[in-house]
Amino acid sequence: MPRRSLLIAALLACLPFAQAAAQSPIVIKFSHVVAKDTPKGKAADKFKELAEAATKGRVKVEVYPNSTLYKDKEELEALQLGAVQMLAPSLAKFGPLGVKEFELFDLPYIFPDKAALDRVTDGPIGRDLLKRLEPKGIVGLAFWDNGFKMMSANRPLKLPADMKGLKMRIQASKALDAQMRALGANPQVMAFSEVYQALQTGVVDGTENPPSNLYTQKMHEVQKHLTVTNHGYIGYAVIVNKKFWDKLPADIRAQLESAMREATLYADRIAQQENEAALEAVRKSGKTAVYVPTEAEKAEWRKALLPVQQQMADRIGKDLIDAASKTASAR
Ligand code: LMR
Repeated sequence: MPRRSLLIAALLACLPFAQAAAQSPIVIKFSHVVAKDTPKGKAADKFKELAEAATKGRVKVEVYPNSTLYKDKEELEALQLGAVQMLAPSLAKFGPLGVKEFELFDLPYIFPDKAALDRVTDGPIGRDLLKRLEPKGIVGLAFWDNGFKMMSANRPLKLPADMKGLKMRIQASKALDAQMRALGANPQVMAFSEVYQALQTGVVDGTENPPSNLYTQKMHEVQKHLTVTNHGYIGYAVIVNKKFWDKLPADIRAQLESAMREATLYADRIAQQENEAALEAVRKSGKTAVYVPTEAEKAEWRKALLPVQQQMADRIGKDLIDAASKTASAR
């Protein structure tokens, strides 16, 4: 064979390898701490499906649920180091990163309902909060909803006074610390993956969760009483490692942004129904008594907890709290 043909034949032989190399997908490791069948778990899986379809396989999303890869604190460190590319931590977990303004979302009763919350996250306040992550090497892509939290313990919790002296697990947020102290309880920061065992062994007496988290972690098996307090919100910021994100080809980044927009609509659509179903499942289990406070009791909870908003003004920023309250209450 002439030399030129040999060269062409050799090049053709290499083609499948060159193609394979060119086509090896960009991998996004997406770690989270809750079960697959929660609003966040389902939204992460939905994002995977949409992102892989939109990029025609050029991106592969590996979702690691239930703290299988990292626990709360480690997952944020892993993201900054680039060991994972995507997370969706609860908004209560950004304080230790130095972005304490996110604790706005932990303030008791700051959002009267989901619509009020959406006005804050979808507007300039939400955008500004996500921007604050960039100096930490993180890009904020979206807010995902979960719902409102309820108090649980092994004793009935009808009134704020029933919380006195209880050891309560909290997420790593000073606003939640202040909230539990305002009720006379003793807050204890703990990773989500450790809560079930801590409740079972009595390391803590109680906790606060949206029903979807309580039920999917089987916490209702180790908590005798749950009160529908809806005293505070829990939602997520979907975040990516900035270096990774900035290096992506522009067309892929646009496709991922569009997949994220769709996954966000899905997350917001399912959150309430998932939580209602979980609360119903808790009731049906017969293991936890679910108590709905009367209007007079709800007023007592509000009275005990509202001062926390002002107590946190120095940490979170008075202007931010005022602007969020105004936006939340605007119709
Ligand atoms: C918790 O730690 O209670 C929650 O942040 C878990 C979650 O991600 O919903």
